[in-house]
Amino acid sequence: MKGFIFDLDGVIVDTARYHFLAWKKLAEELGVDFTVQDNEKLKGVSRARSLEILLELGEVKATEEEKEKWMQQKNEGYLQYVSRMDEQEVLPGVIPALQFLKANDGRIALGSASRNARLILEKTGIMPLFDTIVDGNDVSKAKPDPEVFVLAAKQLHVEPADCVVFEDSVAGIQAANTAGMASIGIGEADVLEEADRVFPDFTQIDLENLLSRSSPKKN
Ligand code: G6P
Ligand code: MG
Repeated sequence: MKGFIFDLDGVIVDTARYHFLAWKKLAEELGVDFTVQDNEKLKGVSRARSLEILLELGEVKATEEEKEKWMQQKNEGYLQYVSRMDEQEVLPGVIPALQFLKANDGRIALGSASRNARLILEKTGIMPLFDTIVDGNDVSKAKPDPEVFVLAAKQLHVEPADCVVFEDSVAGIQAANTAGMASIGIGEADVLEEADRVFPDFTQIDLENLLSRSSPKKN
């Protein structure tokens, strides 16, 4: 494998928690019952789609102006958490994994739906470890559409079949599979059952093995 594409939220940093808290605050204001389980459906999908899912849950009807206002409100709440982030928030094993892959000629990309991705990479100091960044500002179709990963592979100049995607969301695993890439789930196996392999975190992944593997998805 030559290309390694990392999702951001829930893979590199535990911002899935901050997204949840910010959506939960908005949900409370709108009188929508919103649980941690409901939040799984929001993982990996765009901000606009996340709001739609939340409004569907509460059967709330809204105008375009209200939707814009609520998305902005959620993002302001979310950015308060982001403003306090630093390198300590990078999840266990992630920095050593990035350094190992880089040292072994792996090409590294970020493939995230977030429009705040660059800010978070800057706050945590890991921006220089990436060869390219594809985020919510660069794509028009949200995961499970493979657009974000296909574009990342293109920018890395690596064939999709030679790419590995690290993802914590169901939508992201589906996107990687559709793109014809190896999908590695970070999280719980029963949630990420469509992934090729699932690990609880980066300290458990045998990267040497991954680097030397050829893709099972290649024809
Ligand atoms: C990621 C997260 C989602 C989030 C989306 C948009 O994919 O998993 O929970 O809604 O990015 O993030 P943004 O920072 O642009 O609101
Ligand atoms: Mg994620």
